[in-house]
Amino acid sequence: EQAEKNGYDHFMLKEIFEQPTALQNTMTGRIDQDSQMVEFPELDWSEAKVNEWNKIYIVACGTAYHAGLIGKHVLEELTRIPVAVEVASEFRYRRPIIDEQTLVITVSQSGETADTLAALRQSQKMGAEVVGITNVVGSSIAREADNVILTMAGPEIAVASTKAYTTQVLSLYLMGVYAAQKKGQITEEYRKELLESLLKTPGQIEESLEHIKGIRWYAESIKDAQSVFFLGRGLDHAVALEGSLKLKEISYIHSEAYAAGELKHGTLALIEEGTPVIALATQNEVYDKMIANIEEVRARGAKVMGVTTEGNMDIYHYVDETCYIPATNNLFAPLLSVVPLQLISYYTSLALGNDVDKPRNLAKSVTVE
Ligand code: G6P
Repeated sequence: EQAEKNGYDHFMLKEIFEQPTALQNTMTGRIDQDSQMVEFPELDWSEAKVNEWNKIYIVACGTAYHAGLIGKHVLEELTRIPVAVEVASEFRYRRPIIDEQTLVITVSQSGETADTLAALRQSQKMGAEVVGITNVVGSSIAREADNVILTMAGPEIAVASTKAYTTQVLSLYLMGVYAAQKKGQITEEYRKELLESLLKTPGQIEESLEHIKGIRWYAESIKDAQSVFFLGRGLDHAVALEGSLKLKEISYIHSEAYAAGELKHGTLALIEEGTPVIALATQNEVYDKMIANIEEVRARGAKVMGVTTEGNMDIYHYVDETCYIPATNNLFAPLLSVVPLQLISYYTSLALGNDVDKPRNLAKSVTVE
């Protein structure tokens, strides 16, 4: 096992550091360098078929569900088709409105999660086209979906998912651009701008992984907290949910993620002197709103770590700690902002002496209900 960890103390840390390669491998062969277009030979999507879809469901569990939340934002933005994201264990026991004009995307690292597989089967029965996004060749979801996109993350051993998540998010980005191309709904200029930005992300993650000392220090400072709150708006909210789940899974610290605008409708009552709050502020259009929310929690005594994009220097005035991610297109910020959150949970768990790779009560793959 030591040899498999390749010099890292834990699989989770190794897998966090493997993300640049995993992303690179997931992009390879899917972005044509000459035409600068997305190619998905594995998807038999005719223009007519894509134009027929009037609704998309993304169905998944756990971390894969959080990847789906990013997917919703991106697919709606690029295709203008409404997207609903649902937890598979809920979806399978209700009567979702599905027909031949519905695309269902099931996202699953293992391809074996019982609820996600049941949702896939139910959707097919109701006439939907199902795309499976999975990391495991030959898994049940890979075999049964109408089309499959393989994430090229390589084996993920740690229970807390990291590189599978970022490659799922990337696959959804590529799928969004691909569908927009098919619908003739994206200008060449915008497409090139997006793909250029996307191609830079593996290198940018590599760059941010060189500055983890500050994050380790921060993680150690929150290890005795009763609760940790994650706040964000838009895509940052989806990332906040994933950061909070990671922390819960391996540090066992109570944590919640909130859409920052919802704060005053309840969560604000829980903020006390010294409560750690991790506030994501990477989205330009709501940056000022986030700063206002940060001021609200700080006025109640919260200790705030702000996660923002390089260049947003003024955040200094409003937070106790800052973590900068490299500048990128707003749409792709989740690929970069999730990395410090993964590291915060890793180092918090480590500081508490927990079994980082095999947290109590949890399994890597949930193949029974
Ligand atoms: C388990 C794992 C999670 C994972 C979820 C869904 O709960 O511990 O890390 O996100 O299952 O798994 P899947 O293989 O379907 O992505």
